[in-house]
Amino acid sequence: MPKVWIEKLTEDMELYLIRVDDDQIKYFEAAWDIPEGITYNSYLLKLNDAVVLFDTVKKDYEDLFMDALKKLVDPKEITHIIVHHTEPDHSGALPRVLEENEYKAMVIGTQFARNLLEGFYGKKVVENFKVIKDGEEMKIGGKTFRFITVPWLHWPDTMITYLVEDKIIFSCDAGGGYSIPETIDDSSEEVVEKYLPYVTKYIVTVIGHYHKYIVENIRKLKELGIVKDVKMILPGHGLIWRRDPIRIFRHYEEVGAGRAEKGKVLVVYDSMYGFVEKRMDIVIDELKKHGMKPVIYKYTDKVAPAVSDILGEVPSAEAIVIGVSTYEADIHPRIRYLLYEIIDKANYEKPVLIVGAFGWGGGAGKKIESMITRSKFDHVMTVESKGAPSAEDEEKIRDAVRELIQRSLPTGNT
Ligand SMILES: Cc1cc2nc3c(=O)[nH]c(=O)nc-3n(C[C@H](O)[C@H](O)[C@H](O)COP(=O)(O)O)c2cc1C
Ligand SMILES: [Fe+2]
Ligand SMILES: [Fe+2]
Repeated sequence: MPKVWIEKLTEDMELYLIRVDDDQIKYFEAAWDIPEGITYNSYLLKLNDAVVLFDTVKKDYEDLFMDALKKLVDPKEITHIIVHHTEPDHSGALPRVLEENEYKAMVIGTQFARNLLEGFYGKKVVENFKVIKDGEEMKIGGKTFRFITVPWLHWPDTMITYLVEDKIIFSCDAGGGYSIPETIDDSSEEVVEKYLPYVTKYIVTVIGHYHKYIVENIRKLKELGIVKDVKMILPGHGLIWRRDPIRIFRHYEEVGAGRAEKGKVLVVYDSMYGFVEKRMDIVIDELKKHGMKPVIYKYTDKVAPAVSDILGEVPSAEAIVIGVSTYEADIHPRIRYLLYEIIDKANYEKPVLIVGAFGWGGGAGKKIESMITRSKFDHVMTVESKGAPSAEDEEKIRDAVRELIQRSLPTGNT
């Protein structure tokens, strides 16, 4: 049963977090394995003559959400509902809130958000919708709300709210992450360290396709001068940030830009009967000889790592090695799917080495090569050979690994 948190966030304001811990979900967006779960964060701000709700939660939890909301306010008293992003993990409970609100509240969002809400939930939900323009300010309950669009973080509809006098950013998907942290905020370094890899995994799997917009939008917020002395960043998933709020945006920037950890090489391969694996043992040995730190994921008849976990490793890798067997004149199915997702979600300028094994005609290596050369990745070499690796094959593989190390990004490493 998901836990629901209701937490007051500030001494001087009636600002509350309502957080639903989704420990039932298995595949976010029906695609990404998240045994670690996810949280949906909604916020409520009670002012003198206004009650503002920021986003809601997934429909599955609307009963839990309404119960929590009613502990804070009679839904009929909500005057404004801010919709930062209409993906149903945040908007799912909106129709129910509006129904219990008797459609009194003004719903605020972008034109895109209005169109999407109407498409998802019908005309009634947008009867009292106020379309905002980028940078527009509204006075609500004596406070200044500034709405800033951040397109493609995560959809074209997306915006954030900046509470001007209090220097608080409500950021929805931007600043979010997977997992169910044991605290609500970033006060414990231990909790933050454990959480950040789930943020990376979330960024790549959910927003990765648009990762250049992460960098662009954070630059936009910086240029608006609202990041420098922000007091709190309140995302739609995971931890809230108030000890060191800028840290979460910094992390987003680093992942968006694909900032590498020194020496990290992502090694992924399939091996049905061990021939690719023999080659990868050589690759790993050569990498280690040169002080590199291989991070290894393999598909065999015993193990199948989650693609979502592998995607989360790409941004911080200096280089990638793909080991592959030819399967029906094509790429092994596991690697085929993985590669498709890497190129779609984590397309970075990083060197890639392809090492292949085949039985008769081969071809997987060449197919990967043509995918890689059409992406942002830098194709270093394809070393493909038959059966068990000969001494000559071993030499070629070791040479190729040395070439890969040479080509590893000299800039941008942390
Ligand atoms: C189902 C299946 C399909 C295969 N298809 C091809 C193929 O089309 N062309 C080829 O050259 N080898 C093919 N092979 C042979 C493998 O590519 C070869 O045995 C390779 O060494 C496997 O490496 P592994 O033992 O690490 O999986 C196939 C093997 C299997 C089991
Ligand atoms: Fe989203
Ligand atoms: Fe979301």
